[in-house]
Amino acid sequence: MSYLLSIDQGTTSSRATLYGSDGTAVTTFSQPFTQHYPNPGWVEHDPEEIWQGQLECIRKALSAAPRLAAVAGIGITNQRETTVVWERATGRPLHRAIVWQDRRTAEFTESLKRQGGETLVRERTGLLLDPYFSASKIAWILEHVDGARGRAERGELCFGTIDSWLIFRLTGGKSHVTDVSNASRTMLFNTQTLEWDEELLRLFKVPRAMLPEVRGSAARFGHTSPEIVGAEIPITGVAGDQQAALFGQGCFAPGMAKATFGTGAFVVMNCGPCTGSGEGVLSTIAWQLPGEPVQYALEGSIFIAGAAVQWLEEGLGMIGGPGEVEALARSVADTGGVYFVPALSGLGTPYWDPYARGVIAGLTRGSGRGHLARAALEAIAFQTVDAIRAMESASGIDLRELRVDGGATRNDLLLEIQADLLGAPVLRPSCTESTSLGAAFLAGIGAGVLDTERIGRLWSLDRRFDPKLTPERREEMCRGWKKCVQLALGWAK
Ligand code: G3P
Repeated sequence: MSYLLSIDQGTTSSRATLYGSDGTAVTTFSQPFTQHYPNPGWVEHDPEEIWQGQLECIRKALSAAPRLAAVAGIGITNQRETTVVWERATGRPLHRAIVWQDRRTAEFTESLKRQGGETLVRERTGLLLDPYFSASKIAWILEHVDGARGRAERGELCFGTIDSWLIFRLTGGKSHVTDVSNASRTMLFNTQTLEWDEELLRLFKVPRAMLPEVRGSAARFGHTSPEIVGAEIPITGVAGDQQAALFGQGCFAPGMAKATFGTGAFVVMNCGPCTGSGEGVLSTIAWQLPGEPVQYALEGSIFIAGAAVQWLEEGLGMIGGPGEVEALARSVADTGGVYFVPALSGLGTPYWDPYARGVIAGLTRGSGRGHLARAALEAIAFQTVDAIRAMESASGIDLRELRVDGGATRNDLLLEIQADLLGAPVLRPSCTESTSLGAAFLAGIGAGVLDTERIGRLWSLDRRFDPKLTPERREEMCRGWKKCVQLALGWAK
């Protein structure tokens, strides 16, 4: 029996899971790390803390393998776009990582928009000119750290998303690489030619010399250094976390889609070998397997999903923990006309409005905690529907069913509501850790112990949620939601 180690480095925690090559989890370890908010709208992570915490999880997970030689490959999946710049010679980070949620470069991206940069960005990368992506964050570091630009031009500095950073450390500084899915989120990678784009590098003033080499998603990324984990284990799979979840969900055919519910929610639809594009929807690289063309995907990014429930707990003290929200929401038959738009850090797909702010509307004398709890769950589902409708019109494909994963899918009521508001079945798999599983699967392909046919057969259903709402009632609820979104848009402008 061979094993696969999956490294899942997310926005709030690092995780390592050892899987059997049949996709069964043997053991898993995770560790949270510090979130730094040095200024309003800024979010940073300490790359050294991420590395140390992740390494601890890796060592513990590997110790469950009967012998290290039985580990056929390592897969890495990661919070995407988060930007690290470090010294090539020493591996020392030059600055804290600037996290995907960080808005410090909003004015810079606005100014590029005013100069007409959006068309170039859209054409070459499928993305929108937004601070979310890595390019403006690299530019910020080069601008604000003394001497950084000159050093980057001389090839003394490396840029990487978290996958590159971990690989660099795991290989003892030997590999400075990334995969196509992560590269596609930097806003510097041409998703057609599959190369770093010279014009975009000029637009963001990013020296070519600091960029990693780009490989497919199930390729050879290097070996772990024996001093670090006790053996040379090949790193054979890499993908951004949302793409890895799509893979882990077995969404291999065009039109198949998944939604991952975490702090935010990300809906990703497989588009096959052609890029899709559409108003407010991102086009991105899903993955590239050995000897196959790149597969593309459409993505809807929702910034606040589980975080809306967290806010009920931490902001309002209304519940004692996320586990309580379902019972509270079930204590009422409906929201009694209450709507909650959790635009707590602006709105993503399809609105892309950083100035949107949260709104609770429709309150009456009879409104209570239960109504608000239910409105929060509905808000997650409404946002997901908005993203899916935008993706459907971009792709011309109607979604027949939605696979779901992530922590919040334990909440049955959320999935019942999701099916009702979507008007299509929602499928919860037996393993809802699709991100981590997807990275293990990619590593298995890269190591030659798995193929997509076998992986497709490993997916199994835990529960299917069918829509029960009448189309008339659905329409009525969606109208109320849209009205409330209008109140939220542009609020802080
Ligand atoms: O694009 C950001 C996304 O990759 C973050 O995912 O699960 O770490 O919050 P997560």
